[in-house]
Amino acid sequence: MSTGTRTVIRGGLVVTAADEMHADVLIEGGRIAALAAHDSDTAAGWTAGTVIDATGKYVIPGGVDAHTHMQMPFGGTTAADTFETGTRAAAWGGTTTIVDFAIQSMGSSLRAGLDAWHAKADAQCAIDYGFHMIVADVNDKTLAEMDTLVEEGVTSFKMFMAYPGVFYSDDGQILRAMQRASGNGGLVMMHAENGIAIDVLVQQALAAGRTDPRYHGEVRHALLEAEATHRAIQLARVAGSPLYVVHVSAEQAVAELTAARDLGLPVFGETCPQYLFLSTDNLAEPDFEGAKYVCSTPLRPREHQAALWRGLRTDDLQVVSTDHCPFCFSGQKEMGRGDFSKIPNGMPGVENRMDLLHQAVVDGHITRRRWIDIACAAPARMFGLYPRKGTIAPGADADVVVYDPQAEQTVSASTHHMNVDYSAYEGRRLTGRVETVLSRGVPVIERQAYVGRAGHGQYTPRGICQYL
Ligand code: URP
Ligand code: ZN
Ligand code: ZN
Repeated sequence: MSTGTRTVIRGGLVVTAADEMHADVLIEGGRIAALAAHDSDTAAGWTAGTVIDATGKYVIPGGVDAHTHMQMPFGGTTAADTFETGTRAAAWGGTTTIVDFAIQSMGSSLRAGLDAWHAKADAQCAIDYGFHMIVADVNDKTLAEMDTLVEEGVTSFKMFMAYPGVFYSDDGQILRAMQRASGNGGLVMMHAENGIAIDVLVQQALAAGRTDPRYHGEVRHALLEAEATHRAIQLARVAGSPLYVVHVSAEQAVAELTAARDLGLPVFGETCPQYLFLSTDNLAEPDFEGAKYVCSTPLRPREHQAALWRGLRTDDLQVVSTDHCPFCFSGQKEMGRGDFSKIPNGMPGVENRMDLLHQAVVDGHITRRRWIDIACAAPARMFGLYPRKGTIAPGADADVVVYDPQAEQTVSASTHHMNVDYSAYEGRRLTGRVETVLSRGVPVIERQAYVGRAGHGQYTPRGICQYL
């Protein structure tokens, strides 16, 4: 038998959301073919064209980042990572699948928005990718299009209670979309902040001369996140639909999700590394440096972090995604000097997520298996990609990371691969590092060298949420 398309990863500790096994992994034709104990006759009998030595390393599923915005036009500019640069950086950080957001323009169709995002991503990506759809213009035609998109594999729809005049939908529009989703199997993803109230507070702050980036955090009050989260949950209950709340940052919003889940409601929550590792202290950095940390929902006082970690441990939060939406400090974030409301909202992070969450294992916030759950398996299940993505099991795509849990690294913009001129985690020491990354069995990172190519990554249609 030819061994050319066969790879064996020997000697590692395989970690999935469910198990930890000292096992060798056989890959054939881009898929996981088998696992067997290191010293078993089965593993000893495997011959392969490529053998990867993972002794002393973890062998984990490639990360699934279910919330990215590559080259997204937003806030008067465009997110700095293209699909090419952003997916390459994702691979460097051990992520092998992203789900990005296609955008419907006002007055246009979902189809036109989706086509535009396909055109941006086609033949550009280093790793596999799927799309959610941002619904900005709810009308009869849009609602009918949602059914078609679900059938085609775009099974989740982001709506905004924030950003009036941009992506904002009112409660009636949200209710209508949720009613449609309850019938077609779609999952509504909610940006839960009371944007109408926030805009009043923005104008009041600016009129009072409070223009510094730290006021971005103050006007986007935690209670306005909690209120919107509560309202979204009640609207979903009325519609009989599931709900996924994106980028949860406030302790009070976690409490709303917990209360809903205690009632047995199909309500899910995502948080992001920036809310777990950064705080309003960063927004208050002098010389306009706080602009680097402007995103929405905003960073919170560090006291909120305990509730987020607890939520991840108790499964009241299921997923950690990045909300990767990078804007350079120079020329982009600087648009908001003298007026924080003009700072483009968003932060880089697609390259850092797996390492930061491994640091959370080292620091004792979560277990190793929970790391893989929240970063790989749960996002794959949530967005209809499991078990093809998010695990290491026979039949799964061979999206595999060999991870060195002992390696030390210092995060820096001078060494990262995202197309952005700063790191939100500059100088942070982390234990653990990606060594080798396979995407469908093909090396993308090989012993910390990039060997991938734009166009290897394939568009991946998704099924419906697998928690329902
Ligand atoms: O600040 C953020 N989060 N920017 C990206 C757009 C969004 O709301 O997710
Ligand atoms: Zn959002
Ligand atoms: Zn986002």
